[in-house]
Amino acid sequence: MLALCIFLSLCFNGIHGQFPRTCTTRQALDEKKCCPIWTDGSPCGEASGRGKCRDWVVPVSIKRKHFMAAQENDERLNWPKFFYDNTCECFGNYSGNNCGDCQYGHFGAKCERKSIVVRKEIHELSLAERKKFFSYLNLAKNTKSKDFVIVSTGDRYHLNTYQFVDASIYDVFAWIHYYSTKSLLINGEFDSSRNYAHQGPAFPGWHRLGLAFLERQIQLLTSDENFALPYYDWRGEKNCSICTNDLMGANNDQGALDSYSNFASWKIICGGENDREDAYCLAATDVHQRELLQRKPGTTRSVTLPSFKDVEDTLQWKQFDTPPYDRTAQRSFRNVLEGFLRPSDGVTQGASMHNLAHVYFGGTMGRVPISANDPMFVLHHCFVDKILEAWLEKYKATPAVYSENTQRGQGAEECATPYFPCYRNKDLINRSDKFGYTYSVFQNL
Ligand SMILES: *[C@@H]1O[C@H](CO)[C@@H](O)[C@H](O)[C@H]1NC(C)=O
Ligand SMILES: *[C@@H]1O[C@H](CO)[C@@H](O)[C@H](O)[C@H]1NC(C)=O
Repeated sequence: MLALCIFLSLCFNGIHGQFPRTCTTRQALDEKKCCPIWTDGSPCGEASGRGKCRDWVVPVSIKRKHFMAAQENDERLNWPKFFYDNTCECFGNYSGNNCGDCQYGHFGAKCERKSIVVRKEIHELSLAERKKFFSYLNLAKNTKSKDFVIVSTGDRYHLNTYQFVDASIYDVFAWIHYYSTKSLLINGEFDSSRNYAHQGPAFPGWHRLGLAFLERQIQLLTSDENFALPYYDWRGEKNCSICTNDLMGANNDQGALDSYSNFASWKIICGGENDREDAYCLAATDVHQRELLQRKPGTTRSVTLPSFKDVEDTLQWKQFDTPPYDRTAQRSFRNVLEGFLRPSDGVTQGASMHNLAHVYFGGTMGRVPISANDPMFVLHHCFVDKILEAWLEKYKATPAVYSENTQRGQGAEECATPYFPCYRNKDLINRSDKFGYTYSVFQNL
């Protein structure tokens, strides 16, 4: 008990999220200000011409209730206005919460150097590249993020119960996905049928940004600008050929990863039996609630990985998305790619593409909120992202193709939730070199 109290008090006084660590002090939250001091001593590095603290997120219509008051609506709505009115605007190639970082694909003290990495299919990696990938991932799993903390609470109605706690770099990535998928709180009621990252136009861009975030975090952690995430081209695979101990790990019939595999000791950051709609990530503050990863590829009856033809058929849909911009949208590239429709006709409902592969891998991957805890998520989503890239190229698409819609948090001009700094949903529908990477050509895709 004593240990817990000390832990909690540290959380409150000492700042500790994809919340920028320095913006979760009581003072920053009370002032609604996230303009951290850069190493030159000025907010947003203003003295060095890197950026400026701006009130561009000023909420006109939305008045935040007092921090301690009971909450009727989701704090993630109109992201990030609920938490912050003032954030940094970064100039030139500078980026990050305090403009101390560079835009994707840029490096150097002045972010003057552009460098684009090539994401390869995992079978294309040399033995050395493969080893590097697994050791970098393990390092990210075991290194505390110095820039971000995550939110944990047993009572989403009361902001004063929210704790900002430490997490490793990989766990921050898994948490971002978890936090975006929790039920929406509207007028005091939870709605689990919608979230910020799925079942709407935000889906492909949201995941693109998550992967770019993880890739860059690993590049910075290892000082290796050339590091690129690999992908798994699952087209036509009869079984999961990468579910072996030299790659993603073999598993037993119960779904436990083999003790000699690369991720055997990995535990899920948010999950556990006690995770409820009105809670966020209880396991973040209670390590006993953390479970090991589970995987059961190919054990769900009549579920197979998507085929070459499925991917080809997906690319035939020219409209990025179609009304009503949810899981029922017909002849929508986004909805077919996400996997709610049959790719060949774009109309018949049923699990396909992205969704089908999640079901195929099973275990942790089969449970949306926690799926990103399994690194298989990274390889799967990089391939889904490669298909997005092929589509962008085929139709010479620009951010203008993004569909205006009324899904909460998924509007064209809204910030993808819960990323910092703000990236507008439509701007994520842009060629991958803007995010610092391209894809190798493999099996004619
Ligand atoms: C920003 O990056 C581009 C390369 O993408 C480079 O040509 C340009 O000089 C950089 N701008 C500044 C101000 O460093
Ligand atoms: C996949 O199937 C092949 C051929 O049937 C088999 O040799 C291989 O062991 C299987 N791999 C896995 C990971 O189950």
